[in-house]
Amino acid sequence: MRYNDQYQSWRNDPQKFWADQVQNLQWQTTPEKIFEHNESGDRWYVDGVMNSCFNCVDRHVEAGHGARIAFIHDSPITGTKSQISYAELLDRVQCVASMMQDKGIKKGDRVIIYMPMIVETAIAALACARLGAVHSIVFGGFAAAELATRLDDAKPKLVLAASCGLEPGRIIEYKPLLDGAIELASHKPEACLIWQRNEAPAPLYDRRDFEWQALEDQARASEKRANCVPVLATDPLYILYTSGTTGIPKGVVRDNGGHLVALSWAMENIFNIAPGEVFWSASDFGWVVGHSFILYGPLAIGATSVIYEGKPIGTPDAGAFWRVVSEHSVKALFTAPTAFRAIKKEDPQGKLVGDYDMRAFQTLYLAGERVDPDTINWAESALGVPVIDNWWQTETGWPICANPVGIELLPIKKGSPSVAMPGYELAVLDEGGKPVAANETGAIVVKTPLPPGCLPGLWQNQDGFEAAYLEDYPGYYKTGDAGFIDKDGYLYVMSRTDDIINVAGHRLSTGGMEEVLAGHDDIAECAVLGVNDALKGELPLGLLVFNDGVNRPNTEIVAECIQKVRDEIGPVAAFKLAVRVERLPKTRSGKILRGTIRKIANGEDWKMPATIDDPAILDEITEALKIIGYPTEKTA
Ligand code: COA
Ligand code: AMP
Repeated sequence: MRYNDQYQSWRNDPQKFWADQVQNLQWQTTPEKIFEHNESGDRWYVDGVMNSCFNCVDRHVEAGHGARIAFIHDSPITGTKSQISYAELLDRVQCVASMMQDKGIKKGDRVIIYMPMIVETAIAALACARLGAVHSIVFGGFAAAELATRLDDAKPKLVLAASCGLEPGRIIEYKPLLDGAIELASHKPEACLIWQRNEAPAPLYDRRDFEWQALEDQARASEKRANCVPVLATDPLYILYTSGTTGIPKGVVRDNGGHLVALSWAMENIFNIAPGEVFWSASDFGWVVGHSFILYGPLAIGATSVIYEGKPIGTPDAGAFWRVVSEHSVKALFTAPTAFRAIKKEDPQGKLVGDYDMRAFQTLYLAGERVDPDTINWAESALGVPVIDNWWQTETGWPICANPVGIELLPIKKGSPSVAMPGYELAVLDEGGKPVAANETGAIVVKTPLPPGCLPGLWQNQDGFEAAYLEDYPGYYKTGDAGFIDKDGYLYVMSRTDDIINVAGHRLSTGGMEEVLAGHDDIAECAVLGVNDALKGELPLGLLVFNDGVNRPNTEIVAECIQKVRDEIGPVAAFKLAVRVERLPKTRSGKILRGTIRKIANGEDWKMPATIDDPAILDEITEALKIIGYPTEKTA
């Protein structure tokens, strides 16, 4: 069936479309109620009973595919490569789940996983799924305070952590960050199980700390094996925190049944991957791409997934991706455009591609931020494969818009992530909530109910869920993105409607950074906004108003502010641009004119806002921005 036929068949009978997909999984009780809107909201497969770990691991072993490779781990940072078959993975997951059971973990308990790009991270998540426990993976580039917020919200019984993560030339010791977070948080986990890495084993000095390796070995020696705990399709599988408009991240919940149904559909129909084929998502387990397309998606269909601990450049060079593709016969690669911009900068002619055998490679998928046509052109000509932009969010868990290569390759329009996938009906609305004409820009929304796999809510925050996503446009889910749909139904995502920025494919809240800066003793007021960056897409830039009477050097205070964001949010915030200003430009009602400042910093045309309180302030801002080199030649 072609894309149009599939999309129409979904529109004609959404429940039948999603009922037909349940056969891709093994259920303990096959769902009969496909969809229900009940007091807790929209729910898929309400009477279905299954287990996500069983479907991702045991099922393939039972079907005779135990020898097939589940994960290939490739770490140019440690210089190691390894692989684990589905049968070996099953053994490890059973033992780790059993060690977690010994620590009291049962269905519904939360477990925080604070780990880098190693196979144990996947094992930890699968072991949680096996027990019906709810995992929450926290990205290693976040600081202790961010981890503390997640401890307090998820209230985990257990934390599984590695002793360290590895960045090129730098070891990030996780244990001090974890200890610091537990110190800061009101909620204290009962135990921390630490996977000791040779690069920096952590001292275990506390009655709460245990060495994971020793406990896993004990579980294996005692022949304890944890069985899969049956869960309802609607039971939570994980919580993934993502940036919202404040410093408090939103706990996006993912259920079990709808999630695996949707990912199985996406793996086949969007990513064109079949069982046994090699798929590589060059992302991190800490992001949604890692959850969906390093871990659950590939395993749900019995494919092989690459776990890469390295960077697109510098580990050791801009040919790193091509080496991985050729050595592991990768069929499709998924990454963020920023990775390609980094490669293109170092190897503009794409010469390094020629050093590798890329015959297995068929498609490149890019997502996480807007893909600029230049990057697509470069990737297409360097690699000679289709470059597929796809658009989605942590909340949806799988692409809203894509070019469904597994069904058919539709014409590619550069700058557009193509068309809506079955399950998603898009609209672009004006400020009054009315649909706009084709090619006109407005707020991009999705008609509710959202399809299986999308968030059923925020963790223990139904009101917050409704306020953030459902209230502004009744009958629609608000994506927070703005853009337009052309006459052929192709979407163009142009910007955010809130204060989220996208830095190197990482979603960050400028509001969250402002909260941190406002906590500095010498800061009276501040504004953070995203400025264009040729490599990372956007970079946060802070304007700082000092308290009256502060008489220390500007540079000293600015440096402290930059360090404060790094310490409290983490290096991933990439907050390195800040400057002192005397006053911030505001409207007469007191709203900071961030949009205008942004345009000035980017060297774009801007108009004096009619509502501005004091136009002279914009001249002051223009002068202050020059001090830190904005607008730059590149952004202007
Ligand atoms: N643990 C600890 N620190 C981390 C980290 C992690 N897991 N990941 C990143 N950091 C640090 C980096 O070392 C860097 O620190 P620095 O300020 O001391 O240099 C900082 O966070 C910012 O990281 P990043 O924005 O990623 O920049 P970078 O200069 O290290 O790398 C790219 C730039 C483009 C190569 C890199 O962003 C990249 O590979 N992106 C791929 C896209 C991606 O994975 N997106 C995720 C969603 S799909
Ligand atoms: P995250 O939840 O971290 O995946 O970030 C989701 C946000 O990233 C979206 O709401 C968009 O703002 C942006 N985004 C993701 N993919 C794309 C894309 N293909 N094109 C444009 N923006 C994108």
